[in-house]
Amino acid sequence: HAATDYQAEDARISQGTVAANHTGYTGSGFVDYTNIQGSYVEFTVSAAAAGPASVTLRYANGTAADRPMDLSVNGTVVAPAVSFPATADWNTWASKTVDVTLKAGSNKIRVTATTANGGPNLDRISL
Ligand code: GCU
Ligand code: CA
Repeated sequence: HAATDYQAEDARISQGTVAANHTGYTGSGFVDYTNIQGSYVEFTVSAAAAGPASVTLRYANGTAADRPMDLSVNGTVVAPAVSFPATADWNTWASKTVDVTLKAGSNKIRVTATTANGGPNLDRISL
């Protein structure tokens, strides 16, 4: 099926801010995670039926260090410490795909920084 985009700036943000101080984002901006462990963005997504889905996260990481994040679905971490390695700079966006299982209807997908550096800048997820 065609992917649906969910903009990070429209999601629930804990310890992060909506920003637009770099180029190349989609929508009206992106989320700048606060540089702290536990900062997160939580998306509410809809699935027509229960089953597998591939979640693609669009991010930028203008530092040299990985910015790993846990990805949880409906409160359970299903992909721990997913790697979000460096991109060329903060204006350069890359994609990371994680396979998950959803239930029919509404689902909560949360991506939480696991290190004191916080997460990468997050533009959107698509699934
Ligand atoms: C810079 C950059 C931000 C980024 C931050 C970080 O301040 O402008 O977009 O989020 O670094 O290291 O997390
Ligand atoms: Ca940040």
